[in-house]
Amino acid sequence: MANILVTGGAGYIGAHTCVALMNAGHNPVILDNFHNSSPQVLDRLERITGQRPVLVQADIRDRLALDCALEAHRIDAVIHFAALKAVGESAEIPVDYYSVNIGGLLTLIEAMTSANIRKLVFSSSANVYGEPASVPVREDFPLSAGNPYGRTKLMGEMILGDLAATQTGWHIARLRYFNPLGAHESGLIGEAPNGIPSNIGPYVAKVAARELPEVSVFGDDYDTPDGTGVRDFIHVMDLAEGHIAALDGIWAAPGLTTVNLGTGKGCSVLELIHAFEAQSGRRIPYRIAPRRPADIAQSYADPSLAEKLLGWKASRSLADMCRDTWRWQMNSSAAGEEDRALTG
Ligand code: UD1
Repeated sequence: MANILVTGGAGYIGAHTCVALMNAGHNPVILDNFHNSSPQVLDRLERITGQRPVLVQADIRDRLALDCALEAHRIDAVIHFAALKAVGESAEIPVDYYSVNIGGLLTLIEAMTSANIRKLVFSSSANVYGEPASVPVREDFPLSAGNPYGRTKLMGEMILGDLAATQTGWHIARLRYFNPLGAHESGLIGEAPNGIPSNIGPYVAKVAARELPEVSVFGDDYDTPDGTGVRDFIHVMDLAEGHIAALDGIWAAPGLTTVNLGTGKGCSVLELIHAFEAQSGRRIPYRIAPRRPADIAQSYADPSLAEKLLGWKASRSLADMCRDTWRWQMNSSAAGEEDRALTG
């Protein structure tokens, strides 16, 4: 059993990763400032696993809090989620994004260095591929970023690359997520974006729940099978388990591991809507709207490197993702506003 500091552990992917850690017999310590999540996630984690993770309420840039947490809880490794993540918002308040995402990462690296902790799993994003020249997307494709959020992820990767190349003893995984969807199958934790969702999954769920009138499908004239955007939706529990595989993988092997976490299957916006209709039993009204600026036509992973290096492969289906999102949506609608603020 290892003690794992999970920064941003109350957020959407972080909370699911805490479940996966506890399922694997580890001991997660959550560091979170609840900027986009709620302390009630801790209650939900306890209900799911029977174990309540320790909580350190602090900002990721708070060096003193990090120093104390690493030492007091005898941390062996860190999974770093704490970051701002909305592409649109990042273009409005870029300095905040650099401060939290880059300042936070640097503070964490310094604190880990001084505590002599050298195992780190970093949340990156398929956003670092920009508009890929072809699909499926492999890890050796060129990297670029068209917005401040993407630039913070790309810079984060570069910082860690330089660190691994110059300082011996670091064990680092950079995980490039495709499009997370779904919720824990209990329906007790899930994604709860503030306000009107900008990602397609939560938006469709709210239309099915009749909290929003219809889905705007952003473009049906892309060069894709049905003309709508194609993405690689991955169940958040598969993604969470990818972190455990990454942790296991880097444990014995120092250096840098960079892998895609995706399913390898492209799914169009219309396919997603129809799959969600099938799982929810609700009709989901939609209309075709203009393309969203800066959207790419299609992106899905070649996930074979993660399988080769880490022995990890996504196992849950699109139907599972829609069913679990729907269960979470129903629970959170019924529980009202307070529960809707659970995880960001
Ligand atoms: C977005 C982020 C990306 C992040 C990812 C996962 C942008 C430009 N990129 O990517 O950085 O890593 O989420 O959280 O925001 N769509 C609709 N109607 C909607 C919403 C979306 O048709 O109301 C379509 C989009 O045009 C796209 C697909 O659904 O084709 C997926 O969109 P979205 O869920 O926002 O994810 P990404 O654009 O892949």
